Amino acid sequence: MAAEWWKKAVVYQIYPRSFKDSNGDGIGDLNGITEKLDYLKELGVDVIWVSPMYCSPMDDNGYDISDYYKVDPMFGTNDDMDRLLAEAEKRGMKVILDLVVNHCSDEHQWFVKAKQDPDCEEAGYFYFRRKEDGGEPNNWRSNFGGSVWTELPDGRWYFHTFSKKQPDLNWENPKLREKIYEMINWWLEKGVAGFRVDAITFIKKDLTFASRETEDGLRYPIENLTDYPGIGDFLAEMKEKCFDLHDCMTVAEAPGVGEETFRRYAGEHGYFSMIFDFTWENMEGEADKSSVEAVERWKQRILKSQRFTSEIGWNGLFLENHDQSRCVNKYLEKDQIGYAGASAMAVMYFYLYGTPFIYQGQEIGMTNAVWNSIEEMDDVRAKGMYREALEQKKDPQKVLEYFGELGRDNARTPMQWCNEKNAGFTEGTPWLKVNENYQDINVKAQEARDDSLLAFYRRLTALRHQEPYASVFAEGTVRPVMEELPAVIAYEREWNGRTVTVAVNFKKTEQEIPAINGALSAAGNPTEGTCLLSNEGEPERIGERYLLKAYQAVVFDGKMV
Ligand code: GLC
Ligand code: CA
Repeated sequence: MAAEWWKKAVVYQIYPRSFKDSNGDGIGDLNGITEKLDYLKELGVDVIWVSPMYCSPMDDNGYDISDYYKVDPMFGTNDDMDRLLAEAEKRGMKVILDLVVNHCSDEHQWFVKAKQDPDCEEAGYFYFRRKEDGGEPNNWRSNFGGSVWTELPDGRWYFHTFSKKQPDLNWENPKLREKIYEMINWWLEKGVAGFRVDAITFIKKDLTFASRETEDGLRYPIENLTDYPGIGDFLAEMKEKCFDLHDCMTVAEAPGVGEETFRRYAGEHGYFSMIFDFTWENMEGEADKSSVEAVERWKQRILKSQRFTSEIGWNGLFLENHDQSRCVNKYLEKDQIGYAGASAMAVMYFYLYGTPFIYQGQEIGMTNAVWNSIEEMDDVRAKGMYREALEQKKDPQKVLEYFGELGRDNARTPMQWCNEKNAGFTEGTPWLKVNENYQDINVKAQEARDDSLLAFYRRLTALRHQEPYASVFAEGTVRPVMEELPAVIAYEREWNGRTVTVAVNFKKTEQEIPAINGALSAAGNPTEGTCLLSNEGEPERIGERYLLKAYQAVVFDGKMV
């Protein structure tokens, strides 16, 4: 099973800009990551996913790449990258990179040339259209607001799914595809263990580029055009020419892929090792977040997703990433934010069917920041939407509120290492403001305490690695249990005759659940199950029941009575 090492792995996502600054320029960098490898090792991390650190004008913080082969000076040098890889390897950890190939930067040499000369080879690497009567070639709306088309001085328009500084690459062009594969293999040969694959369901276009009708008469959202017919040819080819040649893991960001299409993407012979299933993970906050009803809705989505993904493929499990607000804010009401809720959510997702991903700061319970103005924000998406609201004469304050709650900057504030200046992230001026609550929420304070969220995360990862449970989680089936109990999310994982039961009470009050028994004794009598993990101490057994406290989460070796 060497090829499936990633099934037992715990992955940690690093947003390099915000993780650790090693040279005082206010921007996190590769040497900063290397400095913190021991911290990650102790946390129980096997694989580090580094968000883009390639040369980039940073319109979308590195998701707009101008040189795929070079580390941006802002983050260090290629030598620093080599050192990071070597130091990680020394500690038995692997590194995966972000693969951003739906688009590049408008400052990439390819696009610079294509702009200058409509007849050059590179002009064929992009989508250019012209309209007789001028005007946008169609009515599609980009993911960051506004048209997907931007006009060049010579009257050509180029296509971009995201910002206008992120021109889409033309995957129809075999030369371009070869260039991409060459680059992927170059990194894999360097010792990178795989990729998180960005926005990959956008790479195939509807080549008619015909305008589409919308109910509100506004632009047609490009996000409705993911996984377009024919995309499989490109993805299968990339797998065959790159991923299959290496023992690597790939996890795709695949918006639009659901139950019907999951197999093609993340089934046994899918294009990728796994995908993130956005049907429940990308949930936007709800007004009554931690009400029983909201938890029940969340539960149904999670269980549904587990049902189909476990039958046909493999999952990347997450509560947070660099595009989401912090999970404690997403799923908990303000007065519930804290250790109990955060650790309960952690248990809930960590032992599901799939590979768990932790996003930087999640392990200490970092929260959303308070945003007072659009100027305080950095996110190109928030700024684009703000501009669009102004253009459409909508209330920009609403946009500000929306992004304050759900915006991507919430996850991008600097990592909170200690209670000193700038939370120990930088000696200089941080590129994005530090969350005011760093005095209370930081690594150093939590390292000093056994009852901190950080200490609990270490126990979480330890159980994920401890045999035979590691095999139960990597190989076992998943089955929902206690489904009728309101706001309880519970499931059994079973493998090779062993059952692990996970139960989480998301109610704000205590609640009874059925007790859990272990194997029969030699005399044939039932034994009590062994509590492997609990965020609030071992639950009290009253006959055939356990009493769980509010937000108590337990993991047992055994089966529900
Ligand atoms: C993905 C990334 C996001 C980025 C976008 C464009 O969704 O996660 O951060 O803005 O792709 O590359
Ligand atoms: Ca720096």
